Amino acid sequence: MNEHEMKLISDFALKQSGIVLNESKAYLIESRLGSIAEKHRFNSIAALARGLATASMDLQRDVIDALTTNETFFFRDKTPFNLFEEVILPTLISTRPPGSRIRIWCAATSTGQEPYSLAMLVLKHKHLLAGRSVDILATDISASALERAREGLYSQFEVQRGLPVQMLMEHFVQEGSNWRISRQVRDMVRFSELNLMTPFPQVGVQDVVYCRNVLIYFNNESKRKVLDGLAAVTKPDGYLVLGAAETMIGHTEKFMRADGQRGLYQPAPRESALRLRA
Ligand SMILES: C[S@@+](CC[C@H](N)C(=O)[O-])C[C@H]1O[C@@H](n2cnc3c(N)ncnc32)[C@H](O)[C@@H]1O
Repeated sequence: MNEHEMKLISDFALKQSGIVLNESKAYLIESRLGSIAEKHRFNSIAALARGLATASMDLQRDVIDALTTNETFFFRDKTPFNLFEEVILPTLISTRPPGSRIRIWCAATSTGQEPYSLAMLVLKHKHLLAGRSVDILATDISASALERAREGLYSQFEVQRGLPVQMLMEHFVQEGSNWRISRQVRDMVRFSELNLMTPFPQVGVQDVVYCRNVLIYFNNESKRKVLDGLAAVTKPDGYLVLGAAETMIGHTEKFMRADGQRGLYQPAPRESALRLRA
């Protein structure tokens, strides 16, 4: 693959998904697109790159899917889940009337470990809900990651990464060398394909948004666009949780740090956002 073909692929990835692939990612592209080129009967990745401009939707989706990085694990980075138990859920329970629905959105869910971790915490604190229900929406651009998420079947290695043993025993059933998430937890999460680069008003207003470890793949313009979109769907007293390596600073004034906690944000009051911008 020459420089021109590399640029065809990185321009395509940026336009379709926001993912930035610079020259240092040439190896990643080569290793991930080989099987896609073969599947769609191109005799090389270079030929696939040249065919992208006129590619079928099917091929375009396969290419984007292959270029995503789906690294995730149960209770990843711990803090966002401690915050859920100690700050987010108790606050929502005290501010939402009994009988109401608390809505949570995982905006780059990958293979499901993040929404399932939250669902297990909701079950742990079920006795506090007092008639409130919890709806968890989990979305991603990658169809293959979502397929795995819906399947809810994890290897021994995957369940050993971050999942407490008592939760494994309580919420999973062993199937050969794998572990399947219980029907109860599985049914608490709704999975759907969604590209954060396109407007997403259809997700509706959310009490909590987890958007972790996806902005790191985007440029500043895309980060701002996504964060502004998230501000539009987060309730004024709702929460946004970002990944450990992600920050709001310099990207948007529509969110402010909540409770002085790193990675936890709330929509900024409209007037202060306007003042900051002036
Ligand atoms: C590294 S994973 C993060 C998973 C999980 N949030 C976590 O922190 O463990 C990043 C996910 O972002 C998804 N992604 C990348 N670009 C996206 C886009 N434009 N819209 C939606 N999801 C995207 C990828 O498919 C991948 O599953």
